[in-house]
Amino acid sequence: MLSGTILLLLTALGAANIAFAQTNITANACADPSAFTSCTTQALTASTGCMNLCAGNKICVLGCGCAMYQSYMNCVAESCWNQAYSCEYDELVAEYFLECPTATEPIPYWPAPDNAPAGCSCNLGKVLQSVLNAQKEYNSCITNNTSTSVIELSNKDTACGCCEVSAGLSAMYETCPDTIPAKMGADLWLNTATLYGAVIDWDTCGSVLDNYKCPNLGFAPPSSNSSTFYKPNSFPANGTQTLYNTGAATALTAPPSGSVFSWSQSSVTYTVTASPWKNNEVKATGTGESDGSGTGTAGAAGASKTSSTGAATSLKQSVSVVWLPVLTVLAKIMIA
Ligand SMILES: *[C@@H]1O[C@H](CO)[C@@H](O)[C@H](O)[C@H]1NC(C)=O
Ligand SMILES: *[C@@H]1O[C@H](CO)[C@@H](O)[C@H](O)[C@H]1NC(C)=O
Ligand SMILES: *[C@@H]1O[C@H](CO)[C@@H](O)[C@H](O)[C@H]1NC(C)=O
Ligand SMILES: *[C@@H]1O[C@H](CO)[C@@H](O)[C@H](O)[C@H]1NC(C)=O
Ligand SMILES: *[C@@H]1O[C@H](CO)[C@@H](O)[C@H](O)[C@H]1NC(C)=O
Repeated sequence: MLSGTILLLLTALGAANIAFAQTNITANACADPSAFTSCTTQALTASTGCMNLCAGNKICVLGCGCAMYQSYMNCVAESCWNQAYSCEYDELVAEYFLECPTATEPIPYWPAPDNAPAGCSCNLGKVLQSVLNAQKEYNSCITNNTSTSVIELSNKDTACGCCEVSAGLSAMYETCPDTIPAKMGADLWLNTATLYGAVIDWDTCGSVLDNYKCPNLGFAPPSSNSSTFYKPNSFPANGTQTLYNTGAATALTAPPSGSVFSWSQSSVTYTVTASPWKNNEVKATGTGESDGSGTGTAGAAGASKTSSTGAATSLKQSVSVVWLPVLTVLAKIMIA
């Protein structure tokens, strides 16, 4: 299943130019804007260098991409932790899971706690976690041959697929009923989970889901407060809200995970040291993300020069060593 995912990614890579990881978090909204800017600049440079060394090898490019997302997440944890519950960080993590086949939980600050300070209007992390669970449950569902009849087994595999698609969509509609489903990736999920209709014909899943109960096939409730598995044409009305952050960038003024913590992906462990709050301009005015005025940012940059250089240096080192193990893991999956 995983190698199938990789092949799909490689096909996508072959078709389009490699999209560099990007984050829509603006430095002005960060606890330490200058450190964040140098951190993301450094991540981009390291990643470009990594990809240049790949000489067109697609597995290699995938590995560099994985490392680049990890670097961006480190930048957020280090100097933009006050945005760790934002929609933009949720979107960065979602893209990481989409683009990097070796991505695994746990991810720092993700998913956000309910009603987190300056959190996203929709807890996209919770939604994505349900979607990832649905994928795992599908994999165990199709390999669970408890019943013996061949006909029953083939029908069951169809049911496993219908439950997977339904679980992901239901998680979106139940977790964030007010949000426009497309903003949570509903269309992307419908297309990729059904492999554009080639593997699962979602439109015919209604009668399948009448005959099979997803919980009996090993599927957990799609959301923490609802166990409904919606069928095609049975969904509640689409939400109408777009995504927005519920609080100002100043809502969090101390790093929620403490000033030093570690996290791991594949065989790489990162130790992140959070910058202290530095953007006094934003903190004082408290008007939110858009208020990082030039003066405030410049002032912070001067004050934080030494420590932001240190942060950038350690990031540079970690990025260049990091992508090797990532590539090794990818190569192993590919061969398996
Ligand atoms: C950033 O914004 C652009 C334009 O809206 C969007 O296409 C892209 O997916 C976003 N990326 C992330 C990681 O949020
Ligand atoms: C279950 O059945 C499928 C299809 O017949 C087969 O490919 C798979 O290996 C079986 N799994 C186990 C654990 O027996
Ligand atoms: C589930 O929780 C979400 C987010 O708190 C809420 O908007 C939604 O209405 C709840 N759904 C149900 C069925 O209680
Ligand atoms: C509701 O959202 C889904 C997923 O984006 C979309 O396919 C569908 O057309 C929308 N329905 C309406 C009535 O807009
Ligand atoms: C396997 O399928 C049986 C019958 O459908 C179900 O009771 C059981 O919970 C499933 N096992 C797992 C591990 O999902």
